[in-house]
Amino acid sequence: MGKRTIVALPGDGIGKVVLNETIRVLDAAGFEANYVEGDIGWEFWCEEGNPLPQRTLDLLAEHKIGLFGAITSKPKDEAFEELSPELKEKGLVYSSPIVGLRQHFNLDICLRPCRTYKGNPLNFIKRGVGDIINEPEVDVAIFRQNTEGLYGGVEWSNPPAQVYDALMTHAKFRKNFGNAPVEEISVSTRIFTKKATGRILRAAFEHAKKYGYKSVTVCEKPNVIRETSGMMYKMAQQMQKADFPDIELWNTNIDAQMMWLTKNPENYGVIVAGNMFGDIVSDGFAGLIGGLGFACSAQYNPETGIGVFEPTHGSAPKYADYPVSIVNPIAMIESACMMLDFIDEQPIATVIRNAVAEVVIEGKVKTYDMAKMLGRADVVEKGAASTTQMADAIIAKLN
Ligand code: NAI
Ligand code: MG
Repeated sequence: MGKRTIVALPGDGIGKVVLNETIRVLDAAGFEANYVEGDIGWEFWCEEGNPLPQRTLDLLAEHKIGLFGAITSKPKDEAFEELSPELKEKGLVYSSPIVGLRQHFNLDICLRPCRTYKGNPLNFIKRGVGDIINEPEVDVAIFRQNTEGLYGGVEWSNPPAQVYDALMTHAKFRKNFGNAPVEEISVSTRIFTKKATGRILRAAFEHAKKYGYKSVTVCEKPNVIRETSGMMYKMAQQMQKADFPDIELWNTNIDAQMMWLTKNPENYGVIVAGNMFGDIVSDGFAGLIGGLGFACSAQYNPETGIGVFEPTHGSAPKYADYPVSIVNPIAMIESACMMLDFIDEQPIATVIRNAVAEVVIEGKVKTYDMAKMLGRADVVEKGAASTTQMADAIIAKLN
């Protein structure tokens, strides 16, 4: 088989540097690939009125695998202000290219694993009985439905008459909102389909089975959001009974889960949720294992084999222009490992993961976050590792 082609999507801000350093690690680990660069992000919005140009979609359709840094995103009014003057008359409205990518390729499965790195100074600790400090070992895999729900984009301010009339057919709408002037109403919808809900649930159960997790937790709010959360939980019950009887099915509410995750994080295995709650609970768990410098993710469509792998952090614009980059590349490097798993290059992924684990446990090379410094341009002078030094340390441990 010839070399694979990977679409490198640096995006904005620190996305560029973490992606470069990650490609250096991939090369050093012996992953043979060609990289083609895809345009995505703020620059393309401002200059072309499209943060996700068609040529980038074409590249991904052709090569299927994308490694993505991060982008800058802004609310639509601010985005309009920054649009190049000749485009301002065109009626363009900014929308996130990440959401665009997910929807275009139906990358409906999002996986965000959060596993404790032994020796990470940022690991969550808690007080136990007798004030004993303990460090629970977290190993959760969060499956987030990635295309529907509250981030589905079906929303209106001052909804058109047909929408308003339809809403008025609902007794609760009439009672609670019927007196509000229509021009003062904003509506965002939360739509779940059985197909997509079934796919994310199945992905979660299969992952639990394959990697030996004892439980799958549906983290929603079925007691209040009865139709969508309710449907997901009910489908999970049916699926567990029919196909995964050896895996326990748990049910938590998102609000309670955010509290419990600091109480007993070691108890959870696979967690599955809709789009927004999956986003929230995965950031919560990521905080326990070191935060944004460590949080990696995969989004993919198992049928087409198209996948985009990215850290969950953003473009951190305040750090983007430092002469020496200070951000932690581990989240991006771990995202690349998820890519390697996806394309059946697990042995290389294992080599890289072991190298990362060794650097963390050894504790000599720490980026500013791990050194618990405030993010400033002078942290490297004060002893923190730069982004490049961290990547070098990982490369030195590859074997
Ligand atoms: P952010 O994730 O870019 O940064 C928040 C803070 O987290 C940073 O100031 C820094 O203290 C820390 N941080 C982030 N990445 C880090 C790393 N690799 N190592 C060490 N520390 C790190 O989120 P923020 O500031 O809310 O958003 C900045 C821009 O990024 C916005 O335009 C936002 O819309 C966009 N964004 C993009 C995402 C994506 O591309 N997937 C996700 C989140 C935000
Ligand atoms: Mg998020």
